[in-house]
Amino acid sequence: MISASSLAAICILASVLAIRVLHRRSSQSSNLPPLVAIPDEQLFGNPRHAYETALKQYGKIIGVPRKNRLEYIVDQSFVAEVLTNDKVYSFEHGTLSMLNLHVLLALPRSFMHEIDRVVQDHIVSDLDDSVDRIAPVFDKLAKKLAAPVSSECQPIAVEIDSEVHRMMAEAMLTLILGRHYASAAHIASTERIAVAIATLTGIFENMSWWSRTFPTVGRTWNWLKVMFIAIPYHFVLGIGWQAFSELSAITDVARSDIRKEPVIMSFARKFIDKKTHRISLIDRIWILSVILGLIFASVHQTAVVIMWVVCELAKRPEYIQEFRTDTFTETSEDGAQRLTYASLQNAERLDSFIREVMRTKGDTLSTVRQTVSDTALAGYVIPKGSFVIPLATLANEDENHYGENAKVFVGDRWVGTGKPATMVSPNYFPFGLGRWACPGRGLAVAEIKLFILSLIAHANLSLENGEYRVVDPLNVTSVAPKGRIFLHPLFS
Ligand code: HEM
Repeated sequence: MISASSLAAICILASVLAIRVLHRRSSQSSNLPPLVAIPDEQLFGNPRHAYETALKQYGKIIGVPRKNRLEYIVDQSFVAEVLTNDKVYSFEHGTLSMLNLHVLLALPRSFMHEIDRVVQDHIVSDLDDSVDRIAPVFDKLAKKLAAPVSSECQPIAVEIDSEVHRMMAEAMLTLILGRHYASAAHIASTERIAVAIATLTGIFENMSWWSRTFPTVGRTWNWLKVMFIAIPYHFVLGIGWQAFSELSAITDVARSDIRKEPVIMSFARKFIDKKTHRISLIDRIWILSVILGLIFASVHQTAVVIMWVVCELAKRPEYIQEFRTDTFTETSEDGAQRLTYASLQNAERLDSFIREVMRTKGDTLSTVRQTVSDTALAGYVIPKGSFVIPLATLANEDENHYGENAKVFVGDRWVGTGKPATMVSPNYFPFGLGRWACPGRGLAVAEIKLFILSLIAHANLSLENGEYRVVDPLNVTSVAPKGRIFLHPLFS
């Protein structure tokens, strides 16, 4: 009888051969980049080394099969061209195809344009207000985590990861849908939706032998699970239904005099029909789909990056005191001291630390584009419909750009340079680049600062054995590192 591993080996061999045959057939009529088959253990175990070595050996652009797909990987010299020339390298096609959501490309409205507008017009246009609304959620978790430390007066290990995911779900529910949505049940559903949709990008495929070996079956299974179980169960039946009913009740086009209106309400007003004073059924479904996309974009990834910053800071606690002295708080109406957007902007050392974490955390294939026509690059032709992905480590740690210490973590590298964590460039693109660079990055960095400053106001941090573990080196942006974090009382 044939064993599972032999079957897997046959499948891998067959897919590489099929890709090679197709590749050769097309190379007869055009000049395709070299095809490099990298063994799975290297690709998933040490992707950075595997891709960097292959690029060094074969040139600035290579085709690499991964999970039954052929991806063209480019080095740092093509970052700007690939990520900013949207006419040829499409963000929408690339991202939606990667998520197996090609169907959204066929809609008469652009899903990505809409979600982009919501973030720009209703979240980042007034970051003071957005931060104001969510700051208590961050403060609440910091106090909860630190409470046992002050009573015990000795270091305690804390399970931060799941708490941070919950906190992000609560913060985004509060901001997007309103405080009345932040119940335990809705928070749990939001966390599950964010993780479920993230599985569509394949984040858990890298860690599962089954999904790596049978990627098409794995992808289809994930897609069915998300579309027919996770979204209906965790979104439509709970949050979605409540929001749908509220949308059905709005009638006034003008913004109400409630200052802090949830994002969904101010966004929805533009869909109210001037004659009927109602939002049509199609528009209500559209609004909910966009809100679902926004929850996905804003919860999981921010939670993961918060964990990166927590782990790095716990590894280098010597930075903590500087961050404290950099920070000021303002007195709120109820007399309590609180962090505001202005205080977060002032935290320049922490901002520099965050930028350095994001630059060095080892992003590999983090931003993707898809060619909309046969495209000439570096003397080759990339066929229409191909995924093109810059290898981020090569750009983020490029010695020609950053000098000899490019690979060294220097927490205050950016202090006084006028380059905040949100400022992207071809040598720093954890938030993407060009027209489609992450519109929520101002909020994301503010949220990271809110959590860190709230936490260090109550405790010091350290990491067991001074080290954390990278769980999935091929997907550091979507899978948080693991480490045992200790909180220490402030005055021990
Ligand atoms: C640390 C957390 C975050 C990271 C690392 C991150 C990273 C990214 C990246 C790499 C892209 C693709 C850009 C490109 O391909 O050029 C993106 C797109 C996007 N992000 Fe973020 N993001 C974060 C947080 C957020 C938050 C909090 C929001 C919403 C408030 C958000 C909303 C979006 C949206 C809507 C897009 C689609 C592109 C667009 O509309 O222009 N992200 N993000």
